[in-house]
Amino acid sequence: MEKQLLRLTVNGQEYELYINPKTLLVEAIRDHIGLTGTKRGCDTVSCGACTVLIDGMAVKSCSVLAMQAEGTEITTAEGLEKNGNLAPIQKAFIDHGAFQCGFCTSGMIMTAQAFLNENKNPTEWEIREGIEGNICRCTGYNSIVRAIDATAKGKYTEVKS
Ligand code: FES
Ligand code: FES
Repeated sequence: MEKQLLRLTVNGQEYELYINPKTLLVEAIRDHIGLTGTKRGCDTVSCGACTVLIDGMAVKSCSVLAMQAEGTEITTAEGLEKNGNLAPIQKAFIDHGAFQCGFCTSGMIMTAQAFLNENKNPTEWEIREGIEGNICRCTGYNSIVRAIDATAKGKYTEVKS
């Protein structure tokens, strides 16, 4: 299939790619742009490891063609930090040991970030529901839920640039 020009905006930077129109967004991000924080775990839209933000919404990037994301603002795990300072949710994951192998972590954090953008004062149950589309094989989820809860409660602040 003939390659096509695609312009993607990822973490505030515009990229011009010549790609097969059937390229998945996760492939464009990882293999063409080289941002490998976004993981590819299942390709069946089950695990959530590939989750990125598209215009602020958590989206499994294996479920979207890269072409469909043209004209949107995509944020990956690499884009959460500001001037070398981790985002509150990233600090919380570290402090709470909310990862073991780390394979799910980027996707989990992106889902958590989108969730917190919409839910300023969530209950534990709402947090668990909010991340139910993301699978972690290691942690048992409790540390992840505690990290999201601590972030919601304002225990980690954003460093102003
Ligand atoms: S790789 Fe996309 S949901 Fe698993
Ligand atoms: S930390 Fe290993 S899959 Fe979540």
